[in-house]
Amino acid sequence: MSDAKAAPSLGRISYQRTARELPRHLRSMLALDDFQQAAKRHLPRMLYGYISGAVETGTAFETSRSAYADYALVPRTLIDVSARSQAHSLFGRTYAAPFGIPPMGGAAIAAYDGDRVMARATAAANIPGCLSASSLTRLEDVRPAGATTWFQGYLPGDQTRIDAMVERVAKAGFDTLVLTVDVPILGNRENNVRNGYSTPIVVTPRLALDCATHPRWLIGTLARTMMTSGMPYFENMDAERGPPLFARNLARNTQHRDRLSWANVAAIRRKWPGKFIIKGILAAGDAILAREHGVDGIFITTHGGRQLDHAIAPLTVLPEIKAVSGDMAVMIDSGVRRGTDVLKALALGADFVFVGRPFMFAAAIGGQEAVQHGIKLLMDEIDRNMAMLGINSIAELTPEHVRRIR
Ligand SMILES: Cc1cc2nc3c(=O)[nH]c(=O)nc-3n(C[C@H](O)[C@H](O)[C@H](O)COP(=O)(O)O)c2cc1C
Repeated sequence: MSDAKAAPSLGRISYQRTARELPRHLRSMLALDDFQQAAKRHLPRMLYGYISGAVETGTAFETSRSAYADYALVPRTLIDVSARSQAHSLFGRTYAAPFGIPPMGGAAIAAYDGDRVMARATAAANIPGCLSASSLTRLEDVRPAGATTWFQGYLPGDQTRIDAMVERVAKAGFDTLVLTVDVPILGNRENNVRNGYSTPIVVTPRLALDCATHPRWLIGTLARTMMTSGMPYFENMDAERGPPLFARNLARNTQHRDRLSWANVAAIRRKWPGKFIIKGILAAGDAILAREHGVDGIFITTHGGRQLDHAIAPLTVLPEIKAVSGDMAVMIDSGVRRGTDVLKALALGADFVFVGRPFMFAAAIGGQEAVQHGIKLLMDEIDRNMAMLGINSIAELTPEHVRRIR
């Protein structure tokens, strides 16, 4: 008998569109990693390096990624899996899939209108997304584009500035605030220096040549942005507008981030009415402190291997952090690329999984349609893997479905 069963018609997900239904440039995108190769050709070197790059030796990224190979899947058979659904709840809302897209700065320079592209794509797919503090579109203009979008702050250890920003985010209607805590200072990203990327971007002859040799990006993203809305600014670092994207003598205000402490977390918790998430936890002790401070959820992450090199892999510490997290939602990211990765993290106790760079590359090469195609590719993988694991819902996943093999 053929194992090529007809595509399921339960309305969960429509199986892969036939090649003819997709625009030409997306037809060869069969897995999330395919977007990276296409984006490498499309983007100037400085931007491709900024997105793909990691800190120092790249070990934190590699171990975050390779930790998924430390576990093998243990399927169960002869279970009726015809009613399977990957719909999954987080903070009382049911999403179409158990994964989301984490905050990524610079989306609107990698892709035309990138911040809203991400907001629209995640809302259309009914998965969570998150606007970065390093974004270039006013948060007030992004919120209406996607009701599933959260806001992530890079806040300083200065309660006056924090209060003003928290008020601004609440006024704009966001219901979930993510505080990133693994950037007390910027990581040592040598690749940015080598490729001429900085924030703000300083235009040099070398950089101009880099842009000019990527004309599709230059015209379709940069020139189009300048023509439709003028010079982009770092709009969301503080309650007031930050510096422009291109500037010679200006700097983003990253002052006093190294003073941010649990005292600020306590003050934010008192002030912020919505869901409050801390992003950047790798130690069980910090998960306990987060719980004691009334935080609603934590992200176990190495920031995609972009901050502390040799930081421990999120998947490695997931079980011990889950064990002390109480009612907090435990989210994980860094190096997740396949449906099997998502399911391994969920089986080991994650409540939700986030996938970054591939969606930034997708936005760069094909805007909202490409991001939604990427979401669908990952959903298709999860659906197939659920069937072969013998489960009908994400809730049925248990640690018995994975085995540590090295
Ligand atoms: C280009 C880029 C920009 C990012 N900007 C932010 C940011 O502004 N705030 C933040 O908390 N994390 C940021 N991150 C980290 C992501 O939120 C996420 O933790 C990481 O990308 C996950 O790893 P992955 O890309 O391997 O999936 C950024 C990551 C990338 C690749």
